Amino acid sequence: MELTRIAIDGPSGSGKSTISRLLAEALHLEHIDTGAMYRAVGYEALRQGWSTRDVEAEPALLDGMEIDFQDGGVLLNGEALGDRIRTPEVAKAASDFSALAPVRAKLVELQRGIGRRKSVVMDGRDIGSNVLTDAEFKFYLTASVEERARRRCLELRQKGIEADPAQVQADIAARDYNDSHRKLNPLCRAEDAVEIDSSAMEIPEVLDCMLALIRGKDPAAAAGTAPCAREKKEQK
Ligand code: DC
Repeated sequence: MELTRIAIDGPSGSGKSTISRLLAEALHLEHIDTGAMYRAVGYEALRQGWSTRDVEAEPALLDGMEIDFQDGGVLLNGEALGDRIRTPEVAKAASDFSALAPVRAKLVELQRGIGRRKSVVMDGRDIGSNVLTDAEFKFYLTASVEERARRRCLELRQKGIEADPAQVQADIAARDYNDSHRKLNPLCRAEDAVEIDSSAMEIPEVLDCMLALIRGKDPAAAAGTAPCAREKKEQK
């Protein structure tokens, strides 16, 4: 059986998880949210009271963690974590622990194993550049930090949480910095990834753009910015 692997990378708040889920649905592929795997590690570390130093000194602490997926959600030792991994504390812990070599080694191996067995849309920070370097399609989804902060505030408001927009933007900028400046597999665009700037695009437009590129295998978009995103930006 021939496998199709689609890699989607980008900074936090670029919409990659939503887009990846919708793309997987449209193409009948499994969606693997690798950020949720790092969040599961962050969640467990907070629960156990581990610091990054503890895990660096004793990587075997990670051995007892079995991470899997069920119905698109992450499982830790068989337990569905749901929205418990979506808190700001867990996001911060996920970012901190994702910089550790033993954490990355464990999760990258798991992710590559999934990619060998299944057709997937896998999203994260280093999927195209490190985990699935031979993926058939690679996208790098971005949006301006202001737009990502605006979306995040809107999302929080819908949950009844009022957040300070300046603080939300500062948190996003700090996480961008952490994720793209760590030594191991930092957030970066793979050379052969198609970049889509979604700042001025709605979700369905981004999805259509990706589907057109995948179905048409548009050679003009083999590298560089996706034409549909570029046109949109020019119109803005
Ligand atoms: O996409 P997210 O916000 O759920 O990711 C949580 C953290 O995990 C993020 O700060 C960076 C890290 N991460 C990573 O280092 N590599 C990935 N492939 C996915 C996420």
